[in-house]
Amino acid sequence: MRIVVMVSGSGTNLQSLLDAVRAGTLDADVVAVGADKPCRGIERASEAGIEDFVVLPGDYPDRAAWNRALEEKIASYDPDYVVFAGFMRIVDARLVARFERRIINTHPALLPSFPGAHGVRDALAHGVKITGVTVHLVDSGVDTGPILAQAAVPVLDNDDEQTLHERIKQEERTLLVTTIKNLATCP
Ligand code: GRF
Repeated sequence: MRIVVMVSGSGTNLQSLLDAVRAGTLDADVVAVGADKPCRGIERASEAGIEDFVVLPGDYPDRAAWNRALEEKIASYDPDYVVFAGFMRIVDARLVARFERRIINTHPALLPSFPGAHGVRDALAHGVKITGVTVHLVDSGVDTGPILAQAAVPVLDNDDEQTLHERIKQEERTLLVTTIKNLATCP
């Protein structure tokens, strides 16, 4: 199974995938890691000897042109799956259609609650006692696609956004690997 992983940040979810592949517990090939900006995730790819690419929105005249460039770049690796592992950009419907039901996203909240870029902050502000992580297929909405897996994480009394997000990420790293493993055995 050929996977392209897209990142925007520290890349700890990417790292959990790379570690699982290296350990032989995930039968997949991470053929490239892409990003919308230089970031730690891209460094992790080069440390692992994996091809990386950055498609900067600022290099294109508009959102559509950036989407087409990203789409072609991803397609050039002929992936079976594209994993958005902390990729913080919204892609357009055409890109989603090109890889229909083959883009996986991980979101740090229990969807359909708290979609969007601030899932952890919004859950905390709402006062929920349980939040978590969702791994889902990407459709043309924002965090609306079919849910593949979820894990719950309790909110503790003294949590702030950072402590809560860190505990969610611990679950997220495991859930992402398990979900992709399941797709590999039962696509
Ligand atoms: C993850 O919690 C992801 O769901 C969210 O941003 C975080 C990225 O973490 N959108 P990392 O870059 O994998 O460390």
